[in-house]
Amino acid sequence: MTFEYAQRIKRLPPYLFAEIEKKIKEKKALGVDLISLSIGDPDLPPPKFVIEAFKAEAANPKNHNYSFSQGEPDFREAVTGWYKKRFNVDLAPDQVVALLGSKEGIANVARAFVNPGELVLVPDPSYPVYANGSTILCDGKVGLMPLLEENGFQPDFEAVNPSGAKMMFLNYPNNPTASIADKKSLEKAVDFAKDNKIILCYDNAYSEITYDSYRAPSILEVDGAMDVAIEFHSLSKTFNMTGDRIGFAVGNKQLVCGLAKVKSQIDSGPPVYTQKVAVKALAAYKDKEPPEFLRKNNQILQERRDLLVETLCKIGYKCDKPKATFYAWANCKGDSMKFAAKLLDAGVAVTPGIGFGKCGEGYIRMTFTQPKERIVEASERISSAF
Ligand SMILES: Cc1ncc(COP(=O)(O)O)c(C=O)c1O
Repeated sequence: MTFEYAQRIKRLPPYLFAEIEKKIKEKKALGVDLISLSIGDPDLPPPKFVIEAFKAEAANPKNHNYSFSQGEPDFREAVTGWYKKRFNVDLAPDQVVALLGSKEGIANVARAFVNPGELVLVPDPSYPVYANGSTILCDGKVGLMPLLEENGFQPDFEAVNPSGAKMMFLNYPNNPTASIADKKSLEKAVDFAKDNKIILCYDNAYSEITYDSYRAPSILEVDGAMDVAIEFHSLSKTFNMTGDRIGFAVGNKQLVCGLAKVKSQIDSGPPVYTQKVAVKALAAYKDKEPPEFLRKNNQILQERRDLLVETLCKIGYKCDKPKATFYAWANCKGDSMKFAAKLLDAGVAVTPGIGFGKCGEGYIRMTFTQPKERIVEASERISSAF
């Protein structure tokens, strides 16, 4: 017996990473030693104190009941404390909702505010969940905002038609382009959202993965942002905890509460012990500066970044050294699928830019979430392939 998928499932494009994973599996089955620079999952471990906190909190029988659907009170306090220290942003605990990773919140926020057929503005290229998991799965309509190299991979708001838009996603430090936004461009985004009464969903998942002394801002630092914005954050990248599924959304109270309302009908929040671990993890910040382990973590990533980007430049492909994220976004001067296929044959898996949207064509994304010796080996393979 077969059952028909709902129309919204049929409207989903194929999951980019699933396609790539399938090809990688096939190569591996043939015994090829592939180096995967395609998935953004850190190879570095969580800090030791986080592992210890997990042991202690999971061992406490009191931490195995249902959580409050908006999140444990001490978790929400820890998040408000972190925002004050890190961004000098004042939040009340009811402006925080705990998430099962930021992806979950990004997907659910549209359910709270977007009616069938309503327009959601999504950057092109972008993290696929904004268009798919969020907009399409709640029957919204995707309106693309091109991110072009000549504009520093920022939307040109003068060219964006806001008519009928209910919600907009923005993400800096950016996946996949690794570009960053300065305060001025965030101010433009907030003004655009306010002028056109658009909910601004700001994905700040990579704010802590930064290099060369760069510190990423929060959209909530911008005057007036609290009127229109909800910001998504996560411990996934900051603490190398991608599998632990703990994140949060903060900002405008009505937006946060709308998301919490949807979630209360779907899940019962992250496990209490995970939230307790997150409280201890966030407490590692004594002020706005990154704690010791994060500085070391980013130093390791920075060394890999330099290796990879220098290789690409040496063989003639334009790629800026990113100030944040663990992605290199290289101009491959043509068909990104063909370029990725050529590298796959050389034993290196990368992500074709077209997988992140039409404007991603002509680029490839490479992650530096592999040990240094594998990055060196990958660089050698890439060099000899060209
Ligand atoms: C831009 C961006 N936002 C959000 C996420 C989701 O992260 P998590 O759900 O682990 O918090 C990712 C993961 O790769 C990402 O690249």
